[in-house]
Amino acid sequence: MAKRFVIVTGGAGYIGSHTAVTLHEAGFTPVIIDNFSNSKPEVLEGIAKIIGGIPEFHEVDCRSQSVMTDIFQSYAAQGEVIGVIHFAAYKAVGESVKKPLEYFENNIGSTVALLGAMNASGISNLIFSSSCTVYGQPRKIPVNENAPILTAESPYGFTKQACERLIKDACKSNASLSACLLRYFNPIGAHPSALIGELPLGHPSNLIPYLTQAAAGLREPLTVFGNDYPTDDGTCVRDYIHVLDLAAAHVAALQWLEENDASCEAFNLGTGQGKSVSEVIQAFEDANGIVVPYIYGPRRSGDVTAIFADAAKAQRELGWKCERSLEDSLRDAWRWQKKLAE
Ligand code: NAD
Ligand code: UD1
Repeated sequence: MAKRFVIVTGGAGYIGSHTAVTLHEAGFTPVIIDNFSNSKPEVLEGIAKIIGGIPEFHEVDCRSQSVMTDIFQSYAAQGEVIGVIHFAAYKAVGESVKKPLEYFENNIGSTVALLGAMNASGISNLIFSSSCTVYGQPRKIPVNENAPILTAESPYGFTKQACERLIKDACKSNASLSACLLRYFNPIGAHPSALIGELPLGHPSNLIPYLTQAAAGLREPLTVFGNDYPTDDGTCVRDYIHVLDLAAAHVAALQWLEENDASCEAFNLGTGQGKSVSEVIQAFEDANGIVVPYIYGPRRSGDVTAIFADAAKAQRELGWKCERSLEDSLRDAWRWQKKLAE
């Protein structure tokens, strides 16, 4: 049978590596494209151990449209290229405020180059990694896909809004191009084998990587950013989704694009349940039998009070929903942290 290739830009990264594994399990052949700007070659070894062979890989910067076109065409000659999943981007909100031009150039530039390469190679299905950050603090939660897109709080958030817009416009102008804009809530956890997970590069700014490092005694106690929010326990509320549930949604979206005459659709990917920072700490302690050292500190600028997903559209259209609990995610996150310390 002809191979069914899926191009995975940023496939050596956190979500991309889990999605590559899930694509393989679903019968696709992932083709990873990454420049290791925020990942390491060892990730490919982890993927290889899980799927039983080295994945197809190209060390390339996705901003190079001509190189991407050559790669796409070489796979089209060997089988069918079902679509592209575009994870490659810079993702640190705080850093984006300091280096906005680098964020615009990489995140928007790579998306423009990718669309050009897809066009030149006749590839018609695109899945884009967006974020719930496009909603800011929504007036109504759970938030659905029709909520207004608010002015971005950061250059990072702006790049997600801009890429959504340019993909929408590209779909309008090219009837054969279809896209899913996947708005992720808060991905956490790791593959249960602990062979792949989120690589801690520098000081973690996200909750779970910091929490696991603090629990392992590698960092100062976790600072809970604010306990005076108008929520039940005063701490911020988010929707934490296991990275493998998120990965499965990409396979569902790809199959949906293959089966439907879609143009450009946005989907929220979350559990639909809001959990506060205090609830997450408690759940981590319960799941792993370990105490998390923490203190309360001031609010972090730019944080929204509470957001969680109305993911009914993804369930209805894609036939996808989360299978894993918060405890599963926190157990897998801790197993990964322990593996990193070996
Ligand atoms: P990550 O940094 O772990 O993975 C991104 C990968 O892309 C890295 O391996 C990096 O080396 C690669 N990359 C970056 N620029 C590149 C370029 N120009 N050419 C080739 N490779 C390049 O990030 P992640 O957490 O896996 O996030 C994946 C995507 O999901 C990103 O677009 C991110 O903005 C989005 N997203 C992430 C989260 C989250 O909490 N992790 C939430 C919402 C959206
Ligand atoms: C952040 C980004 C979001 C991005 C996502 C993935 C901001 C404002 N938002 O989401 O745009 O898509 O990361 O990269 O940066 N917390 C603590 N102590 C910590 C770390 C976090 O209390 O040391 C709290 C935060 O206040 C927040 C929750 O934990 O309430 C989750 O934080 P985080 O993991 O950084 O994700 P978001 O801020 O939701």
